[in-house]
Amino acid sequence: MSMLDELVARLRHNVAVGLPDQAEQPMKIPASSYGDPDRFDAEMREIFARVPLLVALACEVPNPGDYIAYDIAGRPLVVIRGDDGVVRTFLDICRHRGAKVTDATCGTARRLMCPYHSWSYDTTGKLVGVPGQDSFGEIGAIGLVELPSEVRAGAVFATLDADGEIDLDGWLDGLDESLDALRLDEFHAYRTPTYIDSPNWKLAADGYLDGYHIGYLHRNSIGARAITNRNTYDFFGPHVRIGFAAKGIDEHDPVESPKPYGEIMSLVHYVFPNVSISGGHHDTLMLSRLLPGPTVGESRTLQFQFYRQPIEGDLVEQAEAKRRTYEAVVRDEDCATIFDIGNALDAVGDGHFVFGRNEPANQHLHTTIEQFTNGEHHRWSDQSLVTAQSGASAARSEA
Ligand code: FES
Repeated sequence: MSMLDELVARLRHNVAVGLPDQAEQPMKIPASSYGDPDRFDAEMREIFARVPLLVALACEVPNPGDYIAYDIAGRPLVVIRGDDGVVRTFLDICRHRGAKVTDATCGTARRLMCPYHSWSYDTTGKLVGVPGQDSFGEIGAIGLVELPSEVRAGAVFATLDADGEIDLDGWLDGLDESLDALRLDEFHAYRTPTYIDSPNWKLAADGYLDGYHIGYLHRNSIGARAITNRNTYDFFGPHVRIGFAAKGIDEHDPVESPKPYGEIMSLVHYVFPNVSISGGHHDTLMLSRLLPGPTVGESRTLQFQFYRQPIEGDLVEQAEAKRRTYEAVVRDEDCATIFDIGNALDAVGDGHFVFGRNEPANQHLHTTIEQFTNGEHHRWSDQSLVTAQSGASAARSEA
């Protein structure tokens, strides 16, 4: 049985028994953990500055000179495909005096030109132009600072530490096999970005990992097709795959009248710490990057839509309509709600929030963050969860 057929079978089972996969017990976390600036600093230092981040899909930069640029955790990045076909990740910081060398979230350039004094860099990051160089003096062989980077399963991973190393086998812990099934290289990006302001990055991440809220907060929008609270959850090291059952999955006969996967289920791959890949096993995909801001109470979500076929003709209009729909859902439903939560943190004070047994991915996120900031992240593989299918458990108990 294929991976997708197994997921369909598990979702059908969960719908039949009326339960999602579950953690062994609820878990409390201090509400103050979202707004504590010291914790935020530790998260940026021990997680974002050290681990391999999914910085782009290779299909976002399909041609030489294509780039995508954004700020994350105080670092401006540019991911660009070189004239040699290699995708590289650089700090988007001019080596003269630090201005950005891009002027858009995505674009195509033969040269990355700094606006300040027009130093220019080629698509491999090499400094190739310095106006008035005779008057400037010795510069040496410098270029944009390149970050360690590797492409796996159609996704570009990089570390923000230029001296860091990437061990994707250890980091992905099998997630790459699940990503492979999405055939990410076959997608075409609708290169119109959507930025949505959000409060603390963990409040935003909680929403992407939560299969429980879909039929409630989104009952009149994207949740109308889903069967709420019957999700599958699979963990790959710190990463999570969530399965959503669509209405009608219980009437689906996989032998007599198999339906396309997209009609009966959907998937979210959450690539720790900050990327959600929604869909992908059929014709469309949405990539959401949660970008922590310069302070604990600020983050942004950067979204792109993807399609299996080139986005031209009538599909341009469809893609723009879908982009606006998801922008409205995330801004007016998810982010409006979590801004209220962020505003309530002071009032909650020393109180706590609780994640139910039916919110195992949120439990996993907060446990993983705690392990990283405590220097214990090697223990993540000790965790698993109760599945509605098997009833087996090795779940972590509440701290
Ligand atoms: Fe870039 Fe001066 S800061 S050219």
